[in-house]
Amino acid sequence: MNEISEKTILNDIINNLALMMRTAQMHNINNTAVINQIERVVLLVNSVLSEAGILRIDLVGEFIHINNERVRYPLEHLFNVDSLIKELKKRGVGTIIFENKLEMEEVKVFVKSFISAGSSDNPFEAIYSAVSGLRSIEIDRLKSVKEQDRDIRKIVKKSYFKAVAFSKGEINVNKVKAKDAVSVKKTKMIIRSLVDMILEEEQLLLGMTAIKDYDEYTYHHSVNVSVLSLALGQRLGFDKKALTELGIAALFHDVGKVTVPPEILNKPASFSDEEWTIIRKHPVWGFKTELKMKTIDPIIIRAAIVSFEHHLNYDYTGYPKLRIAAGLDTFSRIVSIADQYDALTSSRVYRRTALSPDRALSILIEDSGKKVDPFLLKIFVNMVGVFPIGTLVMLNTQELGIVCESNPLFVDRPKVRVIANKNDIRSDYIVDLSEKMPDGRFARSIGKTLDCNKYKINLAEYLFTAPVQTPPQNITISM
Ligand SMILES: [Fe+2]
Ligand SMILES: [Fe+2]
Repeated sequence: MNEISEKTILNDIINNLALMMRTAQMHNINNTAVINQIERVVLLVNSVLSEAGILRIDLVGEFIHINNERVRYPLEHLFNVDSLIKELKKRGVGTIIFENKLEMEEVKVFVKSFISAGSSDNPFEAIYSAVSGLRSIEIDRLKSVKEQDRDIRKIVKKSYFKAVAFSKGEINVNKVKAKDAVSVKKTKMIIRSLVDMILEEEQLLLGMTAIKDYDEYTYHHSVNVSVLSLALGQRLGFDKKALTELGIAALFHDVGKVTVPPEILNKPASFSDEEWTIIRKHPVWGFKTELKMKTIDPIIIRAAIVSFEHHLNYDYTGYPKLRIAAGLDTFSRIVSIADQYDALTSSRVYRRTALSPDRALSILIEDSGKKVDPFLLKIFVNMVGVFPIGTLVMLNTQELGIVCESNPLFVDRPKVRVIANKNDIRSDYIVDLSEKMPDGRFARSIGKTLDCNKYKINLAEYLFTAPVQTPPQNITISM
């Protein structure tokens, strides 16, 4: 579809959605005029779905966005669009998502509930419960302008913790035993919000994965692997649909660990050979668990493959042992890097002490071309930087700080949140290591890296909040 015809279709969709709601307000749902209008909407929406896979309509302030882009409509549509915006606001609906293949009957349910909710005390809840059983339509609540403008750090944090809470609720023994561990629809909603965050606020979201002092390792690990995989997938040029699938596969990569007895998984000491034998079964257990689920969805099949392959390694030296090396799925190779990086920088699995991010990266680099896909690792290193977010560094200016933002152009020159300098034991400002002095030399460089865990520094304190100071002007470089 070329750009102009695509814009026309998006415009037509909004206009026809508005007309559909207006006609339905005046007539019965089975009236020919309403049915004709519904048919038009179904046709238009499906034509977009067949290309983009998803159609997301958001009300942002006074504007309509489709798939995250503001729709600019012609003057003759103004009246219709305005009335649609008014009706959406009245019902507290801020988002409508269409996916799969839209059916007439589903739209009828949606329209009926939308119209009748106009006189309900809880209109959003009424529509939400009516559409919750539908395959192709979802709605979400309208965010207030204040909410939309809220500190972005809070929004990123919320998305991250929502995903953690979800993985806690969905990936557990009871759910797996019931064989309905995954609500694909719910999972997609959660991952889509991470995908949006990765596209808009990647550095803050990557910062969330750097905070390791959480109690519930398993759930944070699933989400961290998902976030790191999404960031890598984004650099590979994946579209939103592919990113969502990758994020879901990554979130469920360790689902087989649910079957490992908790006394082994949570053992405070090193694992025995027998215990390792059991742990190494989790890729196969994960694969079986996902395929046994009641919901048969191509996304879950792909996730099952990733669960099976994520410890195989690039050179097949991992587990489970295979007789024939059939070629690893790209998702598996991505998830494997994200998984190893998160595991190495956490203190729970495979080793009892966490490695600093730069140390973990150097281990992965040693394994490049062996355990790890060299091409993907190169992109990963470029993505997280030589000094990834969360690395504790001493600058040549005697300033101690935490790397808080990577720099894709100068991988060794990230932004650093300084937490102490030689004059002030408790400082709090951000410096950009790519900044130069008038004589052309860099103002600051990394002198050495230190172990964040050893210094008991609370990363969360710095990554969740904005700095309170501006950098001092007179800095001296120690030679
Ligand atoms: Fe695993
Ligand atoms: Fe894992």
